[in-house]
Amino acid sequence: MTDTTASGDVRLAGISKHYGSFTAVHPLDLTIPQGSFFALLGASGCGKTTTLRMIAGLEEPSTGTVSLGEREVTHLPPYKRPVNTVFQSYALFPHMDIFENIAFGLRRRGIKSVKKQVDEMIDLVQLGEHARKKPHKKPHQLSGGQQQRVAVARALINHPQVLLLDEPLGALDLKLRRQMQLELKRIQTEVGITFVHVTHDQEEAMTMADTVAVMNGGRVEQLGAPAELYENPRTTFVANFLGTSNLIEASVESTGSDVAVSASGAILRLPAARCSTTPRTGGKLLVGVRPEKISLVPAEDEHTIAAGRNKITGKIADSSFIGVSTQYVIDSPVCPELEVYVQNIERDARLVPGADVVLHWNPEHTFGLDAAQDIDAGIETVEESA
Ligand SMILES: Nc1ncnc2c1ncn2[C@@H]1O[C@H](COP(=O)(O)OP(=O)(O)O)[C@@H](O)[C@H]1O
Ligand SMILES: [Mg+2]
Repeated sequence: MTDTTASGDVRLAGISKHYGSFTAVHPLDLTIPQGSFFALLGASGCGKTTTLRMIAGLEEPSTGTVSLGEREVTHLPPYKRPVNTVFQSYALFPHMDIFENIAFGLRRRGIKSVKKQVDEMIDLVQLGEHARKKPHKKPHQLSGGQQQRVAVARALINHPQVLLLDEPLGALDLKLRRQMQLELKRIQTEVGITFVHVTHDQEEAMTMADTVAVMNGGRVEQLGAPAELYENPRTTFVANFLGTSNLIEASVESTGSDVAVSASGAILRLPAARCSTTPRTGGKLLVGVRPEKISLVPAEDEHTIAAGRNKITGKIADSSFIGVSTQYVIDSPVCPELEVYVQNIERDARLVPGADVVLHWNPEHTFGLDAAQDIDAGIETVEESA
């Protein structure tokens, strides 16, 4: 490995973690590029915290190695690694004010003049007025968002090579969480160090991270940029966990650069390049399409649909108007509960529950998945909270 001497990538090679006979993390190979904002996303219990703790040195891997740049750190204790962690609980020192909490890491290393560096951190996390105004506040006198900022500043003042964040926004209400997501992203861009962020919230992961690793049952199922994962899920778990997907069980009719499938008499087409498994004529395929890619017309307007579109018929079972869009649930012989999101531009008064409709979409917006998987994987876990 002589070609990567300048690199500060986090490299996990074959790391796993067993607790007795239970495997919390299966052998995992993962490279987290230096300077990236990387998210580990998955439902509660999938092994995110365990993975993070192995990077921090708080948990010893059962197998495998952890490297930071050129340096293998697998057996280094946490305080000897150039890594700091921000926990969901913040773990601030209750008896110290904001300044002293942030200064802690410097003081512990015996550094006497801390003011300049602490002030820089206070500015970075925009805590100025709260930190400087007298009387100086202790953690319990701060809001959740302010405590979060102190925790981030306290970790960053040590100039770690990698900052690990374990569900750091989990205790905040939704509005504050959104604000802190953008704030953390800004801080990461400003300091340029690697952030590894653990969350069960798919929107949070997509908003913040350059790269998301979707974990399920102690394994990384798929890794990529948020848009790549969303547009091209390779498993039913990823298709269902990241947003919503309509998955249709279909039989393969013909293959080539375009694949044709049939489902309850409807013929649907999709590009072979968008299949994560090789379709075989006569075999099964799960055909996926996102709810916002589908258009909806009353059955009597079927003739207005352009040629070449994928089309299926159904009946509106339910509709919810949510302002920016209307979310429809459609019963179709092809699939029992299809979801369709129609942007609120011009609302067609005929699109009400009970109406017969035709759904249509661009075949290019269809993806194909291996039919041997559980079609509902990743669905029940979406609403789970910390
Ligand atoms: N110290 C431990 N002893 C036994 N099982 C554990 C221990 N720590 C975690 N686990 C189990 O390992 C799995 C993964 O845990 P964790 O990494 O904390 O998940 P996540 O952070 O994704 O919610 C869970 O099933 C959890 O119960
Ligand atoms: Mg956890």
